[in-house]
Amino acid sequence: MEKYVIVGGNSLSGKVRLSGGKNSVLTILPACLLSKGVCTIHDVPRLSDVFVMKEVLECLGARVDFSGNTMVVDSSQVTSIEVPDRLTRLMRASNLVMGPMLSRFGQAKLAYPGGCSIGSRPMDQHLRGMKTLGAQIIEKHGYIEGKATKLQGGEICLDFPSVGATENIIMAATLAKGTTILRNAAREPEIVDLQNFLNSMGTKIKGAGTDIIRIEGVRELGSVEHTIIPDRIEAGTFLTIAAINQSDIYIDNIIPEHLEAVIAKVRETGVEIYEEANGIRVISNQRTKGIDFKTMPFPGFPTDMQAQVMVLMAVSEGTSIITENIFENRFKHVDELRRMGADIRVEGRVCIVKGVKKLSGAYVETSDLRAGSALVIAGLVAEGATVVANIYHIDRGYENFEQKLRGLGAQILRVNGTKER
Ligand code: UD1
Repeated sequence: MEKYVIVGGNSLSGKVRLSGGKNSVLTILPACLLSKGVCTIHDVPRLSDVFVMKEVLECLGARVDFSGNTMVVDSSQVTSIEVPDRLTRLMRASNLVMGPMLSRFGQAKLAYPGGCSIGSRPMDQHLRGMKTLGAQIIEKHGYIEGKATKLQGGEICLDFPSVGATENIIMAATLAKGTTILRNAAREPEIVDLQNFLNSMGTKIKGAGTDIIRIEGVRELGSVEHTIIPDRIEAGTFLTIAAINQSDIYIDNIIPEHLEAVIAKVRETGVEIYEEANGIRVISNQRTKGIDFKTMPFPGFPTDMQAQVMVLMAVSEGTSIITENIFENRFKHVDELRRMGADIRVEGRVCIVKGVKKLSGAYVETSDLRAGSALVIAGLVAEGATVVANIYHIDRGYENFEQKLRGLGAQILRVNGTKER
């Protein structure tokens, strides 16, 4: 089991270039299953979640080459319709093959993804959408199986703007007969990236980025070359790192409009943020002030940034109220932050954070990806040494995390070992 050992307290400076977006890649790779041609995708981060999705495509029969940050996917010879339990358990996003497989082959079978450590994550919205497009859905023996002779366009209104359901339904509708209108769709930038990718492949999709998406079905789809948008959650994580360490950092490869809610909130804490065409400069030279925030679907404050900004609140002046509206169990980092001296109380979906002057280094364990990056941030600002265990969670979503941090002057090492310290 690998761990991070971090010695906190360094002020950071310099420039860091961020990677392509994990969540964008995790929807664009399944979308390759729609194409009879070859899909070439650039700026693909080398993350463990991306390798799992590569394996999902390969187990369906696609040929995948991953060199540097470019992935080439050839789905002309898909030979299987089933994703095994082992892979769906490793990564929930493997459910995103359902829409493309049903659309192109009229069949898909995957082990039920089930819950995860941040809360129960049903697929009811995905499946209701597929049924509206004419698929028969059978749920038994722990598997979800979809069948359709030919999907037909339809009108769907989501109960909640689910990101995954929006993506799965868009992909299902691309090769359906007729037009699909999806209302109350999620508006995340990754959905706009998916639309751009698919339209370059030959689909007719309009409206991504708004809550009404219109998809006109087409007969077949061909080759495409595409560059993934920058990772807005990695960007928000580095913005928080700069804010908390009283640093001067330039973060390169960011689309600031994708981060507006986070930038606005971090600015409220007293940090200076200057937006440039392709990046942001963050200057923090005083103790930050506590602020309140609530997680919301895009363009609101992202749930994937809640844990990291909570650490900033833990050392800011005053009391902050943080409300988690997207997932029901996304405060697992709180107990670990308390070990480091944070004063945080959880009441249902709300956290009350009373800022302390200092955190102190401790042995902590991470339970999920963003909780993991939050604990690293805490370690960077704490007095003394912090050991963050279970960092395989962090490897799911941050490419070369420790190298990027060391480039800014942080003291962080990846070590092997089973002992606590
Ligand atoms: C995606 C992101 C994840 C992010 C989340 C919310 C990827 C690979 N992952 O996850 O990083 O945290 O968006 O921004 O892009 N829900 C239902 N029924 C459904 C689907 C969802 O009740 O059929 C609920 C979920 O339980 C959850 C909420 O809707 O409470 C949001 O989930 P959703 O937007 O679907 O998130 P994901 O697509 O799984």
